[in-house]
Amino acid sequence: MQTANSSTEEEIFRVRKLEISDKNKGFVELLQQLTVCGSISDEAFRERFEELAKCGDDHVICVIEDNNSGKIVATGSVFIEKKFIRNCGKVGHIEDVVVDSSVRGKQLGKKVVGFLSEHARAMGCYKVILDCSVENRPFYERCGFKQKEIQMVKYFV
Ligand SMILES: CC(C)(COP(=O)(O)OP(=O)(O)OC[C@H]1O[C@@H](n2cnc3c(N)ncnc32)[C@H](O)[C@@H]1OP(=O)(O)O)[C@@H](O)C(=O)NCCC(=O)NCCS
Repeated sequence: MQTANSSTEEEIFRVRKLEISDKNKGFVELLQQLTVCGSISDEAFRERFEELAKCGDDHVICVIEDNNSGKIVATGSVFIEKKFIRNCGKVGHIEDVVVDSSVRGKQLGKKVVGFLSEHARAMGCYKVILDCSVENRPFYERCGFKQKEIQMVKYFV
């Protein structure tokens, strides 16, 4: 059942695609809560933003802006990989999901992952996958994911 309060939160926290002006709304600082992300110059940000924009729907970064404070409080991205296997199938890769520590536990992470998953489905992907820490496994299970196999990595820097 939806309460008056929850419909208000629905209005305050809407998911939308990243805009270039989000750099001035705390987007980079939010990413710093996820992992190493130094300060980015306006020029470097614009360059990367324009590069990603050329990928169109094959690379989408979404955000949630707190419409009261004007701050970006949640984000995540999805990349569409085109394959030969599975009849030239497509796979969605979800990355860089983070919710500002002040608003965790309000279903915003679930909203972001739902948006990205639906985008992958709409793009014709047969599955959507992601890597996460053991601690975040219950969160992704709540988002409808299940554990499969293991992750391997080789760092170059
Ligand atoms: C993981 C993270 C994105 C979750 O975002 P959030 O907005 O707090 O999560 P939500 O409120 O949408 O939670 C959705 C559901 O998952 C559950 N959940 C969330 N985090 C959980 C955890 N650590 N352990 C168990 N359950 C968890 C919630 O209880 C909720 O359950 P419900 O559907 O029964 O109500 C957030 O904690 C975060 O940004 N962490 C730091 C960055 C990070 O680790 N990102 C993931 C990279 S893979």
